[in-house]
Amino acid sequence: MRFIENVVVGTATSDGAGVDINRVIGTREVDHIDPFLLLDEFRNEDPGAYIAGFPPHPHRGFETVTYMLHGSMRHEDSTGQSGLLSDGAVQWMTAGSGIIHSEMPEQTEGMMWGYQLWVNLPADLKMVAPAYQDIPAENVPEVITENGLVRVLAGEYASVAGAARTLTKVSYLDVHRNAGTDFSISLADDWNGFVYVYQGSVAVSGQGDTQIVIAQQSMGILGGEGDLVVSAIDQAARFLLLAGKPIGEPIARMGPFVMNTREELFKAADDYRRGTLTDQPS
Ligand code: FE2
Repeated sequence: MRFIENVVVGTATSDGAGVDINRVIGTREVDHIDPFLLLDEFRNEDPGAYIAGFPPHPHRGFETVTYMLHGSMRHEDSTGQSGLLSDGAVQWMTAGSGIIHSEMPEQTEGMMWGYQLWVNLPADLKMVAPAYQDIPAENVPEVITENGLVRVLAGEYASVAGAARTLTKVSYLDVHRNAGTDFSISLADDWNGFVYVYQGSVAVSGQGDTQIVIAQQSMGILGGEGDLVVSAIDQAARFLLLAGKPIGEPIARMGPFVMNTREELFKAADDYRRGTLTDQPS
């Protein structure tokens, strides 16, 4: 049985050119949950809190995943790819050997609400060629039952394959439950995982006989092995469920670069300075 080991509220901070976010992973409190390096929630109705967006910046050594719940964001990158993310769409970007991209709001008012997740790559894939999957909302499979629905962004649920191809073995589900219903899933014993509640609250077993309630805008980090049961108690609830096979390698991180060693980080920063970050390795 899986249980909740720790509940984390996240840290209000600012990223990009001044976008207000709630950082849940990639903080002093939770550096990473292998293979996940970062989770940010941007959720704001005030344009002043998001309008500056995320102008061009580099990445190397991992994948960035943007999931938009509400709003419109334009992506452009150094491989020449571009796309418009809108409600329910996913963008799975493999930075690999090096990419420079921007994500800018394409709205000047109203709610901007979404998530950015960073998924690490193992040493032998950190310098893979950059790639980009632009997945519109209608291409994300949904499993609908009397208990609610599950959007399968990546991995597999109820024998339905997720929308994104992933280099690291991960599951990314957006789960909606009606009041008084449960969600259950069997996760591989050696996978790490967490639940991030974005609407309502849920209850999950704690250690021993306890029940842990995870409130809106909080993350429950999973311990234990085997089946996970998440209950929407007295109101409808929505949460992200992320799980993945740990990579188990040293992590060296510095801003937008995540490698295995400090030397590789310095090389990335140096390549960026010289303008060769996005050159394809020969
Ligand atoms: Fe980025």
